[in-house]
Amino acid sequence: MLSKNIVLIGFMGSGKSMTSNKLASLLKKEVFSTDEMIEQKEGRSISEIFSAEGEDYFREKEREAVQEISNRQGVVIDCGGGVVLNPENMNDLKRNGIVFYLSAPVDFLFEQIKGYEHRPLMNVDDPKAKIEEMLKVRDPLYRQADHVIDSDQKSIDQIVEDIQEIIKNES
Ligand code: S3P
Repeated sequence: MLSKNIVLIGFMGSGKSMTSNKLASLLKKEVFSTDEMIEQKEGRSISEIFSAEGEDYFREKEREAVQEISNRQGVVIDCGGGVVLNPENMNDLKRNGIVFYLSAPVDFLFEQIKGYEHRPLMNVDDPKAKIEEMLKVRDPLYRQADHVIDSDQKSIDQIVEDIQEIIKNES
């Protein structure tokens, strides 16, 4: 039985949450989302935190959530898309987990994300250009993952199968 955590990273809209929930229920593991941990601790939504306190404050809370959850074993972790911006987060997540990057092109991500106002970073005039700009910075960081899965080419079930196949060989 795999004692390492299974960690999902990637841009907003790449399918991390659906994949983590499905995976956790199939493998009978606990699942945690860093965003939900922050919302529960703060008693307010991510959008509220961003607008009241700003992004730096949110990143501090995200850092704390990652520190806390990386100390667990054998759980599934659904990370907010910006978790890779702090290299310490990546170190923590990799130390105790197998990290999967759900990769997808800008057009696919845009289709998934558009109209979702609860994502404060997408509340801009040209969200597609914003995704492109952010992905340029983040893609190399996401690629520090142990495994990269092209999520736009696959259904959630297929992604879950791929992850199961990979972890079978790592336990
Ligand atoms: C963010 C992604 C969001 C959330 C916050 C910031 C980002 O999580 O943490 O809005 O910087 O990419 P999801 O990737 O789960 O949407």
